[in-house]
Amino acid sequence: MSSLEIKEVLREASRRLLGVTDIPQKEAMLLLSHVLKQELSWLVAHENDVVEVDETFFKSLERRAMHEPLEYIIGKASFYGHEFDVDKRVLIPRPETELLVDKVLKLLPEKESLHIVEIGCGSGIISIMLSLLYPSASYSAVDISEDALHVSYKNAEKFGVQSRIDFIHGSYLDNVIKKIDIIVSNPPYIANHEPLAVGLSFEPSLALYGGNRGDEMLKNIIDLFIVRNASLLVCEMGYDQKKAISEYAWLKGYKAEFYKDLAGLDRGFWIKGKE
Ligand SMILES: C[S@@+](CC[C@H](N)C(=O)[O-])C[C@H]1O[C@@H](n2cnc3c(N)ncnc32)[C@H](O)[C@@H]1O
Repeated sequence: MSSLEIKEVLREASRRLLGVTDIPQKEAMLLLSHVLKQELSWLVAHENDVVEVDETFFKSLERRAMHEPLEYIIGKASFYGHEFDVDKRVLIPRPETELLVDKVLKLLPEKESLHIVEIGCGSGIISIMLSLLYPSASYSAVDISEDALHVSYKNAEKFGVQSRIDFIHGSYLDNVIKKIDIIVSNPPYIANHEPLAVGLSFEPSLALYGGNRGDEMLKNIIDLFIVRNASLLVCEMGYDQKKAISEYAWLKGYKAEFYKDLAGLDRGFWIKGKE
């Protein structure tokens, strides 16, 4: 246990995180605010206060210095302006996935009783956000990982929507019996052989790898969308998968349309069903 002024703790911690993150000072503040259970604004207002900093903080700092993502250390990640619980059982929500939610809302037909199904719900961010933004639909959220489903259910409880989302353990749509109107998915889409950036190696491989080429799950989902006669499919994809997806949809007699992320990279597609 050390007694130090908050500003000293933050200075030392930021120094330790140089080269690990582009925002060492911000991350040092987030770690300290998590350990002290105080808001960031409290830290700023009390920078001259002396606090007792124990092992927990230094262990957290060490984990971050070893490139473990901050979200796993503090157990929280923000998505669409809300805070979700995350841990190593699920992918950390990415800002680009907010665009998938935007796209679904934009394309959603004005119909009360739609059944929206998510393949690979992970932490639950997509289904939970959609259920908050579009409350008249019913939802099924599928994941092959039971561990991930525990996290998504807990998040749904946090937002009070657990009774409106049917959480289903299974592969793809195997255990979804009801008629499906809309399918959404941010499936694993990295090629199996692709080396991972250092932070990504902490995330579940089930959430990352999509097959030898990386686009296998996306193509399987297109097949299922056709077989289940749904009216809309919206998926996130890798920045270099536009050609493969466009050709695959065309071969099946469908037209895929694409959206870009904020960096201007191709990041997702949608396909409309044949009425
Ligand atoms: C990229 S993560 C997306 C998680 C979350 N939807 C998000 O956007 O942050 C992909 C998820 O798909 C799940 N998954 C992988 N293979 C699956 C399969 N065959 N059927 C259902 N879910 C699968 C993984 O367990 C993981 O939670």
